[in-house]
Formats: sequence, structure tokens, C-alpha cells
Amino acid sequence: MSSVILSERQGRVAILTINRPDKLNALNDQVRDEMLAELAKIENDDTVGVVVITGAGEKSFIAGADISEFEGRSPFDQRHAMRSPRIFDIMGAFPKPVIAMVNGFCLGGGCELAMSCDLIVASDKARFGQPEINLGLIPGGGGTQRLPRRVGLGQAMRLILSGDMVPAAEAKDMGLVDLVFAPEELRAKTMELATRIASKSPLTLRVAKEAVRASYRLPIEEGTLYERDLFCLCFASDDKKEGVAAFLGKRQPEWTGR
Ligand code: COA
Repeated sequence: MSSVILSERQGRVAILTINRPDKLNALNDQVRDEMLAELAKIENDDTVGVVVITGAGEKSFIAGADISEFEGRSPFDQRHAMRSPRIFDIMGAFPKPVIAMVNGFCLGGGCELAMSCDLIVASDKARFGQPEINLGLIPGGGGTQRLPRRVGLGQAMRLILSGDMVPAAEAKDMGLVDLVFAPEELRAKTMELATRIASKSPLTLRVAKEAVRASYRLPIEEGTLYERDLFCLCFASDDKKEGVAAFLGKRQPEWTGR
């Protein structure tokens, strides 16, 4: 069976491309398994600072879960297929920043996967939606929870109840997408940003991601206390000493990740 995830490196950035363009990169069990295996390799690879996830071809990022796998499945089969670790949770807890580079259709589980990443960068040709309602389903990869946190209850209801797709510009206006570029610029601009982020201290990136992610689950009083503790923890790192010394010495810092 040929691989459905292409893995490449550009400097300190790993790019994982879902490679099923004839099926618009729909997420099937093989995609999930191979993606998890690639992420497990990258997790402990100190030469990788940032991960970019994208879809092969011009048309689609991910057009959702592979609908052909739903046919004939019992609730028990489906529950087994959705067992932990779920790719959506892995992205959030991944100790390095993950950027979704959305090159086309970003639907259903694709939209949920993008929302699990730390940043969503899209081509202005991309289209976003949660069309599960048209299949007699609801989102099952966290969409009912992550979408309202990003865009508010009303816009989340609109997308989930209608199944409508919205273009990237509108998705950006509602806060679903973070940055939008022309299709021919998408890769270069995303790589520029990813490379800039990957040049920071990997240790500090990990702590920063953890602190921001905590805002999802903690009330503001607890969140700011948690942030204070993580901020103070940074004072134990070599990279904090290096960052401050480099600023005061008017030179560029050299991070060690310790
Ligand atoms: N699962 C499985 N196969 C999918 C798929 C999905 N989510 N989305 C697209 N495909 C397949 C199509 O079946 C078709 O395969 P075929 O050529 O073997 O028939 C191929 O990808 C191309 O898709 P097609 O529908 O012909 O492209 P289009 O440009 O006419 O339409 C979409 C594009 C995205 C509007 C349409 O494919 C679609 O609605 N997909 C399903 C989206 C969805 O409901 N996602 C949520 C799933 S829970």
C-alpha cells in the first residue's frame, strides 16, 4: 500500500502533505495512522521546530472524513475507529507549533483538523465548512466545540446547521482563519512564517503554546495564575538567560533549547 503522507523538511520546518488528491485528501484510517506515525517521529526530532500540514493538489486541503468508510459501519465499529489517540487532540497537545496550510476545500474533519492546529493560513481560493448535516451527521472531530470558541455561537450554528461553505476571506472575517494569501504565494508566505517561528527557542515555544492552549480550558483567574507560573519557570532556562543577555549585549541570541 503506498504512503498517503508525504514528509519533507525545509530547514527546521517539517511539511506533512496528505496525498490522496483524487479523493480530495479525505481523511481515512490510513491517513490518520500515517499522520500519527509521522508526528511521533517528529515529536522527538530536535532538528524540527515547526510542523506544517497541507493537502496535495490544487483543489483540496481535506474534504472531510472519508465518507466511504461510514457505509455499513455499526456504532461500535465507528466508535472503535474514533478511539484515542485522536489526531485532533494530538495536534493541540503536540509540543511544537503546528500550522495548517489550507490550499483548497477545508471541510468537516478537515476543518476540525485545521482548528486543532495552532495557526490556520489559507489560500484565498480555500473554502471552509462543516457539511456533516447533509449526511445526517454532526461534526465528530471537535467541531461543535472548537468552532464556537473561534467564531462565536451564532456563526458556528450557521455553519453547522446549514452545512454552507464560506470562502477564505469570510472565514478570516469571522476569526476561523488567521491569514489569507493568493494561492501562488501561499507556500512561500507560510514557510516564511514557519521558519521565523522555528528560529525561536524550542523550549520557550513549547511553554508559550502550552500557556495559550490553557486559555481553552481555564477560567481567566486560573489561566493568568498558570501563565505567571510558566513565565517564572522560564527563568530556569538557559534560553531565558541567553535571550536577555543577547538583548542587553545588542546581539542575536543563540538558542540551545535548554
Ligand atoms: N470522502 C470520500 N470521498 C470524497 C470526499 C469525502 N469526504 N470528498 C470528495 N470525495 C471524492 C469524491 O467521491 C470523488 O471521488 P470519485 O472521483 O472516485 O467519484 C472525488 O473525491 C472528487 O470529488 P467530487 O465530489 O467529484 O468533486 P467536486 O469538485 O464535484 O465537489 C466537494 C467537491 C468538496 C463539494 C464534494 O466532493 C463534497 O461535497 N465532498 C464531501 C464533503 C463532506 O461532506 N465532508 C464531510 C464528511 S463527514
